[in-house]
Amino acid sequence: MHFHVLTLFPEMIEQGMNTSIMGRAIERGYISLKATDIRDYAANKHNKVDDTPYGGGAGMVMQAAPVYGAYEAVKEQIGYRPRVIYLTPQGSTFSQPMAEEFAREQDLVFLCGHYEGIDERVLEEIVTDYVSIGDYVLTGGELPAMVMMDAISRLVPGVLHNEASAEFESFQGNLLEHPHYSRPEVWHEKRVPEVLLSGHHANIEKWRREQSVIRTAERRPDLLEKADLSAKEKALADR
Ligand code: ADE
Repeated sequence: MHFHVLTLFPEMIEQGMNTSIMGRAIERGYISLKATDIRDYAANKHNKVDDTPYGGGAGMVMQAAPVYGAYEAVKEQIGYRPRVIYLTPQGSTFSQPMAEEFAREQDLVFLCGHYEGIDERVLEEIVTDYVSIGDYVLTGGELPAMVMMDAISRLVPGVLHNEASAEFESFQGNLLEHPHYSRPEVWHEKRVPEVLLSGHHANIEKWRREQSVIRTAERRPDLLEKADLSAKEKALADR
């Protein structure tokens, strides 16, 4: 998976993504990440990339030409028209199924806006997907792009140590994950649930599944509508 980020703050992307699992995945070649500075494609000597909005109003608008120049540089480098994701509160809300779909692409371009927005005409020409990470307004698209790259990367084969863990986590099957415990057996007078110490794998799986159902009912009841529950599990969720 090759990520390309078009941004006015390339150092934010580079610093944010070079640690932990993402950093290791880049180092090992499972993913690559290139931040392109939109300012490098400003056609004036002051490197100006924004201007006042036609029709008046507050704030500045990112101009079409530098954004298009940065996009064309990526397109020429990879040799085809990639999917271009514009991060905006006006987009469809990002979700695990969307992450799974994007993870199948060879290249993904993230376009990060700042100020009041980007000239509509360049968006019309290059953007294939408008995506929001939630109903709140951030100062720019860089954090949303990093959120998406993190969620997508962990679905790329080889990125996670434990291949099984990408499958069984929260949202697979529309249930939240069961709780986890590690040593010591007693901490602050709280005991690890007895079944987890039993070594009885069938009972452990049964307990975990029940905990997932209970937890989802308590914390995210909205997810239960889409979950595939047995009659017994439905009764557990209704308690
Ligand atoms: N840019 C500003 N706010 C955003 C959000 N919530 N999601 C995606 N991009 C954004």
